[in-house]
Amino acid sequence: MILDGHAEQSITAGVQCIRSGELLGLPTETVYGLGADADNADAISRIFVAKGRPADHPLIVHVLDAASVTHFAATVPDFADRLIKAFWPGPLTLILPRRQGVAAAAAGGQDSIGLRCPSHPVAQALLKACRQTDGSAAQSLVWGIAAPSANQFGRVSPTTAQHVQSELGDDLLILDGGPCAVGIESTIIDCTRSVPVLLRPGAVTREQAQTACGQKVFLRNEWIAAEATEPRASGTLASHYAPHAKVRLMEAGEMQIAIDLLGEGLQAASGVAPAIAVYSRTDLKIRARHLLIRRMPQDAAQTAQQLFAVLRELDQQGVKLIWIETPPDSPQWDAVRDRVQRAAADPVNS
Ligand code: TXA
Ligand code: MG
Repeated sequence: MILDGHAEQSITAGVQCIRSGELLGLPTETVYGLGADADNADAISRIFVAKGRPADHPLIVHVLDAASVTHFAATVPDFADRLIKAFWPGPLTLILPRRQGVAAAAAGGQDSIGLRCPSHPVAQALLKACRQTDGSAAQSLVWGIAAPSANQFGRVSPTTAQHVQSELGDDLLILDGGPCAVGIESTIIDCTRSVPVLLRPGAVTREQAQTACGQKVFLRNEWIAAEATEPRASGTLASHYAPHAKVRLMEAGEMQIAIDLLGEGLQAASGVAPAIAVYSRTDLKIRARHLLIRRMPQDAAQTAQQLFAVLRELDQQGVKLIWIETPPDSPQWDAVRDRVQRAAADPVNS
């Protein structure tokens, strides 16, 4: 069931849901999450079941503010503190050493914990209400909401309440906060080592993070070479974020040639959905009639905002192939490039 997340009684219903150990679909500025009380192991196990996600994959815990960090994290290095001050609330997740005995199920058994303070007003209102109690034993204090993206494991993250409903069904209570402003998942920076390591690119760029923390943010590959154990991050599996259609990345020139080869031969048979969709920034000459065309914005943030919704919509149209123009090789496009490359990778686990 979808409720208007901006209404006060919806927040009350959401808090009740979280307090009683149920799952809740909630909006954040990045993508929608499937939330549960981070300190309730039974509720957390329901998230893994609903998503079809292996229980040893850690979840991100959403907190109201920087002050909540000490409930979950054992230590906060100075560089992490500077990142928190610069980007919270916002689309940045920090992996920190976990305080013993706290949120072990949400952390998937890791000795670290992923924390993020979302800026979405509905998420903020929910987290705030979760922290207010009347002091009675019946009302347990909820320090954080563990919430992975509200999609089936391996699929495209949802950016509207309707996407969540189509992924997880109508029995789930979902707070509608409108379409997500960022549209792709948060930047993740591992702060459990002596230096910050970027695990997943997002709206907060590596350059911005380096400026804010005043030191180099290592790329995962740069650091992994020196590491014996790799952090488990399902967002980093090659084929994560896959739509049903096969995705192919192409330069504009290559795309134009492929479209020309199809020529006018590709005709619409009545009642048959187009098999190929094109998502490009470049203005291509398109004579083939039976193609679905979607224009990619020139701006990276705008592309991020609509990317998953476009992939989902093309899937719904039943296309078999999605040709995506390769994003520019510049830092602003890092996060979008990461997501479309994963969408184009052969599925290994979905
Ligand atoms: O924008 C986002 O981050 C969204 C919204 C809902 O906040 N959440 C999200 O969650 O993308 P999820 O679970 O789909 O992706 C979280 C990523 C996973 O790849 C997970 O493995 C990694 O964060 N992660 C979480 N805790 C971790 C930890 N302790 N160590 C290493 N990776 C961790
Ligand atoms: Mg996810």
